Parts: sequence; structure tokens; C-alpha cells
Amino acid sequence: MRIIVLGAAAGGGFPQWNCGCPGCRRARAGDARPCTQSSLAVSADGERWVLLNASPDLRQQIQATPALHPRGLRHSPIGAVVLTNADVDHVAGLLDLREAHAFTLYASPDVLGVLAGNSLFGVLNPDLVSRRPLDPGATADLAFPDGPAGLSLEMFTVPGKVALYLEGEAPVLDAEAGHTVGLELRQGGRRLLYVPGCARLTDGLLNRLHGADVVFFDGTVWTDTEMRDAGVGSKTGRRMGHLPIGGPDGSLAGLAGLRAGRRIYIHINNTNPILLDDSRERAALAAAGWEVAADGLEITL
Ligand code: MLT
Ligand code: MN
Ligand code: ZN
Repeated sequence: MRIIVLGAAAGGGFPQWNCGCPGCRRARAGDARPCTQSSLAVSADGERWVLLNASPDLRQQIQATPALHPRGLRHSPIGAVVLTNADVDHVAGLLDLREAHAFTLYASPDVLGVLAGNSLFGVLNPDLVSRRPLDPGATADLAFPDGPAGLSLEMFTVPGKVALYLEGEAPVLDAEAGHTVGLELRQGGRRLLYVPGCARLTDGLLNRLHGADVVFFDGTVWTDTEMRDAGVGSKTGRRMGHLPIGGPDGSLAGLAGLRAGRRIYIHINNTNPILLDDSRERAALAAAGWEVAADGLEITL
């Protein structure tokens, strides 16, 4: 299995277009590595690729990734897309894939329902793009339009909330429902776990992550209140459906006993100090055996 990090940042990217926080200023000045928004590419054979989420930066990500370049007059090695939720940072890139290219689109029934309710996604011609609902807990052999992808996929519910633009008056912040899922991809005995959004650790989730070859986990914020503390927003991580990394209730402590080949934080908000190589938080992760995703990071299992 080959895995490429297309985008390591959370919604907004790093730097975010309208943000002047210290980290974003450093990224603009060339003093911190910029990151595009949340996505992975996965392949069983290094030839045909499955995208895990389609970020608003997808066009730029394809450009930066030779494995995803066309190998013909009109061609793309991208044969399938899998979504973990309906957030803008995970679905807007679908609009980039509209130029008469056939692929298979997998998501939970809830997430496909959101796309169906938004006529803009009608730009994906149904004759070319088949939308396949996958129930959380069910396993599917991923398929490209012209044959098997060589990977099996299981979606599983993760505590989280509906996309920001679907929130009602008082959204449930950590419901385990089909609007937020994690992905487990398998090839032979190899297991990739991708959980870019998670509001709370559960025993079921911990059991599933154990023994994986690679775990990519929600690294949105280090502290729950860091956006407020930085003066860039009023929302907390938990209000956005994201468990913080640090602190006694954070994911670093909660996942301390996790055995996995590699453990990597991804979906990192631009206020999170782990994006800065010289931060003490970055050092704390390294000491605990965790990595920080970066655009272009490649892993072969
Ligand atoms: C999130 O991950 O919480 C969302 O991407 C936030 C957003 O939609 O701006
Ligand atoms: Mn997001
Ligand atoms: Zn910023």
C-alpha cells in the first residue's frame, strides 16, 4: 500500500488566507512549512489512486504530486474518492474533478445525502461518477469504474458533529452517527487508519486503532481554547467537534498506550503549535513517538 499526504492542515490551511496569527505569519515568511487542506491519496499498486477526502486545495495538490498527473491526453490515475464527512475542507475538491472523468465516490448515506441536497455537486455527471453509500461497520472492496482497486474499506462512526453549514440551533457535538466517520483501509494484512475528525475517544475506537500499521489522527488543536487564546476566533476545539491533543483529557494522553507502526497527527489547524518545528509541543509529540503530517509525506507499507 502506498500513502501520500496531500494535505496536512485543517480547514483554512496553513497559512489561512485571512489569518495573521504568529504561525501563519511565519508560514508566509518561509519560516514554517505551509500545508494545504486535509487529504490523503492511497494506492494498492502505485498506479491507480484513491483519494481520502477531496479538499478545496485538490487542484494544487494534484499539481504537486506526480503520481496523480495524467498519463494520456485526457486521463487521471484517480479512480475513487472516499469522504469522512461533509465539511467544506473535505468535499469542495469534488468540484475540481468535474471535467468528464469517471470515478467512484464512497461516503456514508448521511454524507451522500448532504451532497444530493446540494445541486452544485450535480456538476459530477452521474453517468461517470457513481455515488456508493457505505454503511458504517460494513466492509467493501473498493472499486474503480473499470475494476477493483485492490483495497478494502471499512467506515466506522466516530464521535463528531455535522458540518458547520448544517448546524442547527444546538448541534450535538460528539454524536456517534454517520455524519462523521473514520476509515480503515486494508491490503493483505496491512491496515491504514485515517481519523481526521474525532470529538471523543471511545473504547471501540481505541480497540480499532491498536495494531494498525499507520494511524493518522485528528490533530486540529493542541489546547481546546487556542483559537480564542490567539485572538483569532471564539470557538473551542470541542465546539468544532475536535478533541484537543494536549492536556489530561487530550488525545496524546488518551492514546498513550496505542501500539501502531506509525502514529501521525493530521488535520492540523493553523493555530496549533505542532506546525512549528521549534515548538515545545512539537518536541513533546516527538518524545511520545508521534509524528506530524506534512504535505508530500509518503509511506509505503
Ligand atoms: C472542521 O474540521 O471542524 C471543519 O472543517 C470546520 C469548518 O467547516 O470550517
Ligand atoms: Mn475540517
Ligand atoms: Zn493563523
